[in-house]
Amino acid sequence: MALHIIDHPLVLHKLSIMRDKNTSTMKFRGLLEEIAMFMGYEITRDLPLTYEDIETPLMPMKAPKIAGKKVVIVPILRAGLGMVEGLMRLMPSARIGHIGLYRDEETCQPVFYYYKMPEHKDRLVLLTDPMLATGGSACDAIARLKADGYTQIRLLCLVASPQGVKVVQEQHPDVDIYLASLDEGLNDKNYILPGLGDAGDRIFGTK
Ligand code: PRP
Ligand code: URA
Repeated sequence: MALHIIDHPLVLHKLSIMRDKNTSTMKFRGLLEEIAMFMGYEITRDLPLTYEDIETPLMPMKAPKIAGKKVVIVPILRAGLGMVEGLMRLMPSARIGHIGLYRDEETCQPVFYYYKMPEHKDRLVLLTDPMLATGGSACDAIARLKADGYTQIRLLCLVASPQGVKVVQEQHPDVDIYLASLDEGLNDKNYILPGLGDAGDRIFGTK
């Protein structure tokens, strides 16, 4: 399915500050939250509307409201957590699931440790992770969601490598991908170039 690049000037400006190695943890975290909110605006652009009767102080009208069930925001732990607040500001009543995965430092394969989802399989899932590098973690998370019965999944990342996008598109062609930037590639440790380093460490100040 489609690859959407949300290259709005405000998003790109904030992303450039995040990429700078001198940007503090506090600033990095705040910018990620803001960008996630901007991206949330685009990722929800095609949500269906329904029309309800209301009365303004002047007259009755058919007023548009979001139709259907609330969405489920699902961060891939840890770094995906940094995008949740921004999305929740747009969708305060969204449900939240969690998928715990970390990338083994030697093999770069995803290691699974946690899965908790609300019981709403018919809802749209917004899967968040700032980094799509080899694509292993995203593919693993999507496969787990599908095995659990979720059918509508959108992947929201900040920065991706072309390799990561290709892998997700090949393994999960039904999942739309939303990015702020498609970067140049990967280094010999499978870090995104130019990227922004280790997103989890930069969000949580663990290095
Ligand atoms: C990072 C990132 C993704 C994954 C991307 O997580 O947040 O989940 O690596 O790499 P991949 O596309 O090659 O799988 P990390 O393993 O560093 O865990 P953390 O978020 O807990 O720091
Ligand atoms: N995980 C990160 O946090 N950064 C990368 O560049 C690749 C994987």
